[in-house]
Amino acid sequence: MAQIIDGKAIAARLRERVAAETAVFREETGVTPHLAAVLAGEDPASAVYVRNKQRACEKAGLRSTSHRLEDGASQEELLALVERLNADADVHGILVQLPLPEQIDETAVLDAVSPLKDVDCFHPENVGLLSQGRPRFQPCTPAGCQHLLTEAGVSTEGAHVVVLGRSEIVGKPMAMLMLQKGEGANATVTVCHSRSRDLAAITRQADILIAALGKPRFVTGEMVKPGVVVIDVGINRTDDGKLVGDVDFASVTTKASAITPVPGGVGPMTIAMLLQNTLTAARLQVNGSSPAPEQRASGSTGRRSPPGG
Ligand code: GUN
Repeated sequence: MAQIIDGKAIAARLRERVAAETAVFREETGVTPHLAAVLAGEDPASAVYVRNKQRACEKAGLRSTSHRLEDGASQEELLALVERLNADADVHGILVQLPLPEQIDETAVLDAVSPLKDVDCFHPENVGLLSQGRPRFQPCTPAGCQHLLTEAGVSTEGAHVVVLGRSEIVGKPMAMLMLQKGEGANATVTVCHSRSRDLAAITRQADILIAALGKPRFVTGEMVKPGVVVIDVGINRTDDGKLVGDVDFASVTTKASAITPVPGGVGPMTIAMLLQNTLTAARLQVNGSSPAPEQRASGSTGRRSPPGG
């Protein structure tokens, strides 16, 4: 039977570490890191996610404020709000919860967030820095997956990591993180998606499989090789109201060496990484400094190496 990777416990430890670092930062600077969460529209799931993120901030000693716009809000209203938050020296991190109402151009809004306050790591400047191996912020969900692997003692060095899904939020930045030089990365990475031919032939080659395609129980036992480590990013609600991942836990767990559950796997890690990024944003704006050494050590993707390898 597979080892169950306990994301709840691992995230709790990370949140405690951020809380301790935040307390030191506040003592040294007199500043409390402040996350502004923007919620546009009435999507009930988004409202729950934002509330959970704000609660986690407060428990870790960070300040959080929420900024709500109704469903019919215009793009101009949302851009004006983002500009106001960009200009507010008291706000260190800005999170615009997705999805946005359909009349709003998501790219235009995400591009408008100041790159120094972009705690989701969605701004093209931050995506570029990440892809060059010198991240300013860690993309929350992918960095959470990487942290789970590290904490579970899974070596990624030279491993074949197959990422299933090519979204801007998870699949693409996940592949970028695992490809970097350094500890917790150095992997051989394949990205596959809904248009890939013979998906199962690719997923069966994975030493580590990261499923992030948003299809309930898509990955079955026949699609993985014995001993695989499986990270399930999916959060899908079935018709009977149950939360399930992108992985068919029952059949995959009999073959895997380690697997994350849903819920209690990747989900809590995303929030913990958001807290970490909010502290990083406050440090950048108050001290003008890069992240503390502890953060670099956790992801190690920031290490520069000579070209060529
Ligand atoms: N919606 C679903 N996941 C995310 C996320 O990681 N960040 C934001 N801003 N919105 C989301």
